[in-house]
This record gives sequence, structure tokens and C-alpha cells, in this order.
Amino acid sequence: MVDTKVELCGITLDNPVIPASGTFGYGYEFAELYDINCLGSFSFKGTTLEARFGNDTPRIAECPSGMLNAVGLQNPGVDDVIKEELPKLSRVFSKPVMANVSGFSADEYSEVIKRLENSSCSDMIGWYEVNVSCPNVHGGGMSFGTDPESAASVVRAARWVSDKPIIIKLSPNVSDITEIAKACETEGADGISLINTMLGMRIDLKSSKPLLANTTGGLSGPAVLPVALRMVYQVYETVDIPVVGMGGVSSAEDVIEMMMAGATAVEVGAANLVDPYASKKIVEKLPAVMEKYGIERLPDIIGAAHR
Ligand SMILES: Cc1cc2nc3c(=O)[nH]c(=O)nc-3n(C[C@H](O)[C@H](O)[C@H](O)COP(=O)(O)O)c2cc1C
Repeated sequence: MVDTKVELCGITLDNPVIPASGTFGYGYEFAELYDINCLGSFSFKGTTLEARFGNDTPRIAECPSGMLNAVGLQNPGVDDVIKEELPKLSRVFSKPVMANVSGFSADEYSEVIKRLENSSCSDMIGWYEVNVSCPNVHGGGMSFGTDPESAASVVRAARWVSDKPIIIKLSPNVSDITEIAKACETEGADGISLINTMLGMRIDLKSSKPLLANTTGGLSGPAVLPVALRMVYQVYETVDIPVVGMGGVSSAEDVIEMMMAGATAVEVGAANLVDPYASKKIVEKLPAVMEKYGIERLPDIIGAAHR
């Protein structure tokens, strides 16, 4: 019998499979299809202070081996999440959930976390996954995640308002992801998750205009797996805190590969949009794939590609 358990920032997961933010709603939608307690955890939809309608449509485009999205952080806002979404989740999910939060200033990030912490739903949250891919309105619109000091300022703000593990989610749209990861670790981050989507675009041949109303969008899906593996590998070498790997994962074999690159847990994103049962199927296949490769315990293979 193989053991699929892993420990992420002091919390034991039955398995390392975590549906990624923005591809799994607030969980209860998927609980209509299957018992989501089979998952290690999941990261809920990126939540901001105010409700956001998101970008104009079209905001999704298909690509070979992936998809582009420019959803623009559509969510009902943190107060509604506390009042409506998390109570619904509590009826169907009994494990710690990863709370994905976003903001347009460091204060906004800390306010969102503070409200979640002070709410009756606080006990449901195991980790904060702090997405620094949003434009920094106080920093000229550049994404927080593209500058080490800016990213570190978000860690500082989050650290101040919660004792729970703070996992910073990094953007791949940078020349050196390791310096940003290191700056976040130095500021007190408990973990690093990566990658968010890669900036891309498509053009409609008939109109000769960009396909997405937003012109550009984020590429995800199998096309980005090698890039994500490379970045997880590099960040694992740079920091001493756990890495949560994602980007193009769609099979149990991909989970193992991500862990060998250095991931302690692995998120599954676009695959859930292709097949709503994708994460469940990965969880179910994981033991057989572990047996095939002679892996008894998953912690043994974290970072194996470095040894
Ligand atoms: C439709 C869609 C919405 C997303 N929304 C969020 C979000 O709200 N917050 C976030 O941190 N990442 C968001 N992401 C990024 C994913 O969580 C993940 O980092 C990325 O898609 C790479 O993984 P994948 O290739 O498995 O999809 C979104 C991705 C997609 C496809």
C-alpha cells in the first residue's frame, strides 16, 4: 500500500492534489458532481475586497494544448464570500481550504485577509494563497509579482493580519522568478505557489482584431507544463519554504513530475474546465502511478530531480 499523504506548512493532506484558484469556484459547485473531500484541498476563486464583474467578453480563447483567459478576477467580494459562499462550502467540505486572495494595493490584500480571519468562516481556512499577479495601483499599474520589493510588501501586509500560513502565488511573466521568491521568503512567506498564467494573445483572422476583448490573456493548460516545471525547479533550489507547483498538470504522472521538480503539493487548473472530474481522476490514479514507479511515500520524491 502506497502512502499519498504530504504535509504543507504543518497541515497534513491526504494527497497533494489541489484544484487551482479560478477553475473550481467555491467548491460546492463541484460537490454536486462528486464528493470533493477526496481532494487534498482546493484553492477557492480569487477574492477581492469589492465585488468584481471581471473583464468584457470574449474573455476565453482556446489554443493548441491550452487556453487563454482574461476573466479579470470576477468574484462577489469578500463580504459576500463570507456570508454566502463559504457557508455553502462548509456543508460539503470538511478539510482546510486554501483561500486565494487578490488586491490592488497592499492594504487591500490585508483587509481581505483580516475580514476572512475575523469571520465565522476563519476555521475553514488552512492557508492563504496570496495572488500577486494583480496590477499595483499604487505602483504605477505594474503587477505586484513582477518586482521583488512590491511582492515582499504584500507578504508584509498579509503577515501582519494572520498567523495562518501565507503562500505567495507568483507570476511567470518575469525574467528571474527566483529573486521574487527569495524576497517573499525573506519577508516571512511560509510557501510559494507557481505558476499563474503566462501572458499571451490570439487574433481573429476575419476581423484582424485580438480575439479577447482585453487584447491579452493568460495562457494555461498542458502547453505551459514545461515552463512551470522549470520555474518550480529553480524556485525549489532558491528557497527553504515549500513550493506548491502548478501549470499544465492534467494527470497523476504530471503530479509526480511536479513533485520531483520540487513541489510539496500540486494544483490542477485548466484540466478541471476540460473535464470537471479531472482532479478526482488524478487522485484516484495516483496510487497506481506511484506503484508503477516504485514510490512508497510521496515526501520521498519532493525535489528528487535535484539529487
Ligand atoms: C479561468 C481561469 C481563472 C483563473 N483565476 C485565478 C484566480 O482568480 N486567482 C489565481 O490566483 N489564479 C487564477 N487562475 C490561474 C490558475 O489558478 C493557475 O495558476 C493557472 O491556470 C496555471 O495552471 P493550469 O495550467 O493547470 O491551468 C485562473 C486560471 C484560469 C484558467
